[in-house]
Amino acid sequence: MSLTDLQDARPETAIVLGSGLGAVAEAFGIEYEVLYADVPGLSASTVLGHAGRFVLARHNGKPILIAQGRRHLYEGLTAHEVTAGVRFMHSIGVKRVVLTNAAGAIHESFHIGGLMLIADHINLQGVTPLLGGAHFHDMSEVYSAAWREKLHAAAQTIGLKLHSGVYAALLGPQYETPAEIRMLRTIGADAVGMSTVPEAIQARALDMEVAGISMLTNWAAGLKPQTLHHAEVVEVGKAAGACLARLLKAALFHPPLPGV
Ligand code: HPA
Repeated sequence: MSLTDLQDARPETAIVLGSGLGAVAEAFGIEYEVLYADVPGLSASTVLGHAGRFVLARHNGKPILIAQGRRHLYEGLTAHEVTAGVRFMHSIGVKRVVLTNAAGAIHESFHIGGLMLIADHINLQGVTPLLGGAHFHDMSEVYSAAWREKLHAAAQTIGLKLHSGVYAALLGPQYETPAEIRMLRTIGADAVGMSTVPEAIQARALDMEVAGISMLTNWAAGLKPQTLHHAEVVEVGKAAGACLARLLKAALFHPPLPGV
């Protein structure tokens, strides 16, 4: 299917799927897909576990745009480049976006394979997609409080444990050192990853509503005797993706949660 079909569907809600979470798209009723390569300004992801396509899904009659796979700063791209997908979504009328990712757990009460609702973020990537653009956007509520409430309510309805915390974004592509994780904990981070924050900043600057969910795929470096492997991160993400799909379905269009 083509770009025009995607525009004509006029989805107002979008979901960006992180590492290993691609299968979440299948949990929704997929209508068709459009490769990023066929969208001007976008290009395919190079990272294992990231498919690089938009999926137009329909759930309870409403269209949802699902971005399967994202670009990262650690691929050598600029913050402007990694957020092209968000600007594209905005250009076709998307008003709200759920950003998902795989993250390392820092807070000791979390569990691996669980989900953390992003309450706020700490941008340690040293860049922003707004560089050279409009100045001084307010970032005091990047992750919509109303949506967080809805997601918590949805989690309760389906009996899912949903953690909540602060996501710290680092540049990567290497995982952190134990000393870096101790620093992150000290400054108030509950989970760590290498994505999401540029997209969240761009989406807020465009006045889109943002929700963020981290899939806790591993304990962050130094918290357990372990070494970190991307393949394991992707595997845990796949296994726990079913929970994410249930949560999203319940939160997006469940009758007791109107307005989304
Ligand atoms: N650190 C950074 N990014 C990640 C991690 C991690 O431990 N796990 C998944 N993405």
